[in-house]
Amino acid sequence: MSPKWVLVFLFCFGASDISLAAKAWWQTASFYQIYPRSFKDSDGDGIGDLKGVTDSLAYLKEIGIAATWLSPFLESPMADFGYDISNFTKVDPLFGTMEDFDELMAKSKKLGVRIILDFVPNHSSNECEWFIKSAAKDPEYKDFYVWHPGKIENGVRSPPNNWVSVFRGSAWEWHEGRQEYFLHQFHKKQPDFNFRNPQVRETMNEILRFWLRKGIDGFRVDAIHHGFEIAPDADGNYPDEPRNDWNNDPEDYGYVDHIYTVDQPETPHLVYEWRKVLDDFQKENGGDERILMVEAWSPIDTMMHYYGNDTAEGAQIPFNFQMISYLWSGSDAYHYAELINAWLDRMPAGRSANWVIGNHDKNRVGSRFGSERIDLFNILLLTLPGCSITYNGEEIGMTDVWISWNDTVDPQACNGFEDGYEYRSRDPARTPFQWSDAKHAGFSTGETTWLPVGTDYELVNVKRQRGITFSHLNVFKQLQVLRSEKVLQDGNAEVKAVNSNVLGVKRYLYGEQVYIVLLNVFEHVQYINLDDSFKGIPNELEYILVNDKSPRRKGDFTSVKSITLMPHEVVVLRSVEKIYTFSFL
Ligand code: GLC
Ligand code: MG
Repeated sequence: MSPKWVLVFLFCFGASDISLAAKAWWQTASFYQIYPRSFKDSDGDGIGDLKGVTDSLAYLKEIGIAATWLSPFLESPMADFGYDISNFTKVDPLFGTMEDFDELMAKSKKLGVRIILDFVPNHSSNECEWFIKSAAKDPEYKDFYVWHPGKIENGVRSPPNNWVSVFRGSAWEWHEGRQEYFLHQFHKKQPDFNFRNPQVRETMNEILRFWLRKGIDGFRVDAIHHGFEIAPDADGNYPDEPRNDWNNDPEDYGYVDHIYTVDQPETPHLVYEWRKVLDDFQKENGGDERILMVEAWSPIDTMMHYYGNDTAEGAQIPFNFQMISYLWSGSDAYHYAELINAWLDRMPAGRSANWVIGNHDKNRVGSRFGSERIDLFNILLLTLPGCSITYNGEEIGMTDVWISWNDTVDPQACNGFEDGYEYRSRDPARTPFQWSDAKHAGFSTGETTWLPVGTDYELVNVKRQRGITFSHLNVFKQLQVLRSEKVLQDGNAEVKAVNSNVLGVKRYLYGEQVYIVLLNVFEHVQYINLDDSFKGIPNELEYILVNDKSPRRKGDFTSVKSITLMPHEVVVLRSVEKIYTFSFL
């Protein structure tokens, strides 16, 4: 290459190191999921509510949260605790009123914490007016849901095919009134919408517009991989799904391979349509970009379609469930690196990454990986490039709460047998948020709470952890301060297993100091020479964040060539010198 072309090359490819395009607000934001039923109860009925969220916004600000997505608080018979909505534009009285919501919006804008709504498009409640009308064959709503008369053999009627619902049993439920079966991929009180009906699509778009007008900054989209089912054949029939030969329980979701009920090729196009609704709204009304965070439990290559394609924009944040799905307590550092890089490597150019490790459907991080790894995940999530999504309570290291079979309320568990219910129940991760050592952990002043409070609340709570230097909460808060630094905001990232025990994340940018995050996944003492794994790190490193497993202190120094890590120690180091090399060299 002639010197001239080298210069052109440097200019083009090094550009991302020198001149950085301004980032949109969400790209490196720290998101926080609130499960409103369990966050803060303002009226003493033992169930959290909107006023409780409003009263807690200052706490979100304290812990550096840019935006919070709220699990549903809309009118619902609560068969799936709000994921069965009967009115998509009305607040359920359990959670408050529309005035309470408006007040939440007003205060959130004042404090600068953005509000994201949970949008549940795959199904409604069977008590939704649209379903009632559909069942009555009202011409406008007749095809709003997926109906089928079923099969008749020897005069006996049975469901149209072998489809199974996520919450056990046939995905088809007989409706006496309409004398037909309707499809429900979740609970029988959650009938699936028929997305092949353009009126359903327009209704969904209108729901989005309604809430956009209310001032929200975006939507978390629920279970979208279930959106479309395969189109019926010419006779109106739907094919059986193939059997999984490893599963012999016809009632169990794993009994069949879901090739016709999830991940249909049309589904990402729904998200493109919704994104257009959001973008059009912004064009007309101004303000910052409104966002979509999409929940789909789909293969990673399918997930990439949700970002958009050459002609359409999709979701800014298709939830990255790689770590939540595949990491387990025995995973070594190579496994962590592989899962993290899988997303970074596949992400289409110009898109942003996101990192999720907990939510209201999964066991708590401390229970899945051991409480000694709580900081490890908080530190990892907040130092990787892109945005982080923290489930309420993970910042103080809440763990699963054991709940007896009799007290279990989650339909995913209650729809099955007592045997093994612990593995299906999502209740243990949904218990009241632990604010203090007061009655009911400061969550409620009422007599009882809808789920029991964790027995460890006198030790694990916000109030106490505020006063402990290396508490999970204070590590989390320090991380948020660190995160605002330029290199963590805009820097390149290299994620590598230093060896099978230690994961390393290098964040760097031309003309800036290098940041190295080292995470000792296991209980072995480690001696590391970073030169063996990462190139171009200046020799002298300063400790800028440590967890309670560390004998080192902030402000200590070490050499790149000899770093000792104690069991489960996690540290962030920063080079004293700046670097002047381009990322691709
Ligand atoms: C999503 C929600 C889950 C709910 C299901 C049905 O996966 O996160 O809680 O049960 O959708 O709406
Ligand atoms: Mg569906």
